[in-house]
Amino acid sequence: MSNAESSDTHFLNSFSVVLGLLIFVAICIFAFARWMGHIQTDEQMSQTTTRAAVQANVEPFAREAIAGQDNSALAVTAAATTAAPAADVPKTGKEAFEKVCSSCHGLGLNGAPKAGDLAAWAPRIAKGKATLYQHALHGFNLMPARGGTNWPDATVRAAVDYMVSLAH
Ligand code: HEC
Repeated sequence: MSNAESSDTHFLNSFSVVLGLLIFVAICIFAFARWMGHIQTDEQMSQTTTRAAVQANVEPFAREAIAGQDNSALAVTAAATTAAPAADVPKTGKEAFEKVCSSCHGLGLNGAPKAGDLAAWAPRIAKGKATLYQHALHGFNLMPARGGTNWPDATVRAAVDYMVSLAH
């Protein structure tokens, strides 16, 4: 074996060892980071206070967007699709209408039949209440199911009744 050859082999051997060590260290750091991240998120999300705080932080925006009557159809659609919390179920059709349905039906956004506009409602009413309930509950073109809420059937039906009564 020549001198040059043996130093090449020696270099290659040490190089492989160093390379292997570096890869091992990198894997360890990666695994450690994953483990830390996992522990922290699990811990945080299992605390009800954290969940409640996150919920409370997000809530005002959802409300603001619905109550704000923003004229931009997109904003209203996005807001209305955010399900309202179950605790906020309105007691009457009028209340339901004022809370959510009016954000589109008050101004006639996105082609929504405007509340109180007989011409817009007459052909809808002609389809029959059953169809209107069905469309309000399950959605119809740009009309989101339940107006984007998670209200019970009875509340949504009452809101339909109220809007239909406005058109008379
Ligand atoms: C994001 C806007 C939006 C919200 C919020 C909304 N609607 Fe509508 N709604 C529409 C649009 C748009 C249409 C027209 C759909 C079409 O005819 O293509 C419509 C149509 C309807 C119709 C007529 C369906 C038919 O068969 O002609 C009813 C009934 C109705 N909505 C009830 C409700 C009720 C009740 C609520 C509240 C719980 C509500 N809507 C909330 C957009 C909305």
